[in-house]
Amino acid sequence: MSKKVFIKTYGCQMNVYDSNRMANVLKPVGYEVSDSAEDADLVILNTCHIREKAAEKVYSEIGRLKLTKMEKAATGKDMFIAVAGCVAQAEGAEMMKRAPAVDLVLGPQTYHRLPDMLSEAQAQRDAGRSSSRVMDTEFPIDTKFDSLPTESDFDRPAQFLTIQEGCDKFCAFCVVPYTRGAEYSRSVADVVAEAERMAAKGVVEITLLGQNVNAYHGAKDGENTQDATANLGELIRAIDGVEGISRIRYTTSHPRDMDDDLINAHRDIAACMPYLHLPVQSGSDAILEAMNRKHTREDYFQVIERLRAARPDLALSSDFIVGFPGETDQDFEDTLDLVRRVKFAQAYSFKYSPRPGTPASVIEEQVPEDVKSERLTRLQALLDQQQQEFNQSTLGMEMDILLEREGKLEGQLLGRSPYLQAVHVDLSGADNALDEGKDQAYNGYMGKLVRVKIVEAGPRSLKGVLISA
Ligand code: 5AD
Ligand code: SF4
Repeated sequence: MSKKVFIKTYGCQMNVYDSNRMANVLKPVGYEVSDSAEDADLVILNTCHIREKAAEKVYSEIGRLKLTKMEKAATGKDMFIAVAGCVAQAEGAEMMKRAPAVDLVLGPQTYHRLPDMLSEAQAQRDAGRSSSRVMDTEFPIDTKFDSLPTESDFDRPAQFLTIQEGCDKFCAFCVVPYTRGAEYSRSVADVVAEAERMAAKGVVEITLLGQNVNAYHGAKDGENTQDATANLGELIRAIDGVEGISRIRYTTSHPRDMDDDLINAHRDIAACMPYLHLPVQSGSDAILEAMNRKHTREDYFQVIERLRAARPDLALSSDFIVGFPGETDQDFEDTLDLVRRVKFAQAYSFKYSPRPGTPASVIEEQVPEDVKSERLTRLQALLDQQQQEFNQSTLGMEMDILLEREGKLEGQLLGRSPYLQAVHVDLSGADNALDEGKDQAYNGYMGKLVRVKIVEAGPRSLKGVLISA
């Protein structure tokens, strides 16, 4: 009889990708994905540790699941609770103590061992223990990429593909080097093979994922070149050769790793989309240094200049942290100044949150909470204004939109512009939309790139009308 697994995902796109892969490794051992915890035999919380609230949410979710588990046990039904991802990696042992309802703890590098861990948990249950205790948060030599099933459901036209994991940069605020471990890149052949499988299933757009994706240095095999590894620019060229893939994106990048090959890929490869998420974190040299970012604000301006010379319509996005320990009013003004100079199409901004085990968490000079809040409000107002201006600047333009899902309103599909803007496309005037009925007509457009004219620009999304399919 088939069993059910419910996976709840927190945090970044890497976790979304990992959750899909966990569902895949569980399929051969009889688990189907369910969309509620209530009827699941196994619940996996795929957690995020990057900022404070993320971990707190996990503990309250475990509290709720504990009740479900107890109710089920009362009716003679088993349920396992697994905690995966970065909170599991960072606080696994503590979590086992603090939350006895948790049966399994697995880090981001060990999810390919899930079936074995489940068998062990089941054995412990069968031996009469009320809660099983299985934990695996190693960084094993056999990587999770080696032992994955090769087929997965690429059911949407835009997919993520993990090419790199971990990070060797050690920014002073960040847990990633500790939770995801040292940098690791998949080989070019592996990545291209996965891209080909995606294309065969109708995928049109691929976003290459990695915590520090442009540090990518995957093995090239069977090549008559002297370099043993390929950089991200070279990998993008290889994926550009996969038939059916019309759009390539990548995230998240570090300014120091924007090399010429990658910048030239933006110039030479039409499929390399004119949008880049390039976190800068701060506009103050003193804070950048304290953060151990290993670049100055001037370095950032220069990278942007080179990128814009290669691809003048490039839209930029970034991450910012306000209230890093020691940040003065002047440091913060420097961040606002950097934002005004660069002009971002969109961005994410956060209050600094001390993460246990990171160097910045033990700096004494922490910024008071109210100062952080005030700075965040000011920064976000400026970034929102820039996003609105960017959206306005695309009004009246014609562009290719990849239609990815149904819109909220009748007659609409929701897609993405080359600049990653969400675009609601009105299809009610399309040739076959009225004759053939809604579902059929939309099926014809769903997953396709269509030419659209932008007719309305809001702060977070655009509206467009179809020009031709
Ligand atoms: N506090 C606040 N923001 C953080 N980020 C990473 N660590 C922290 C932290 N300790 C932000 C950075 C990073 C993004 C993914 O999360 O801006 O780029
Ligand atoms: Fe964290 Fe990114 Fe810095 Fe790596 S480069 S330590 S992932 S913020």
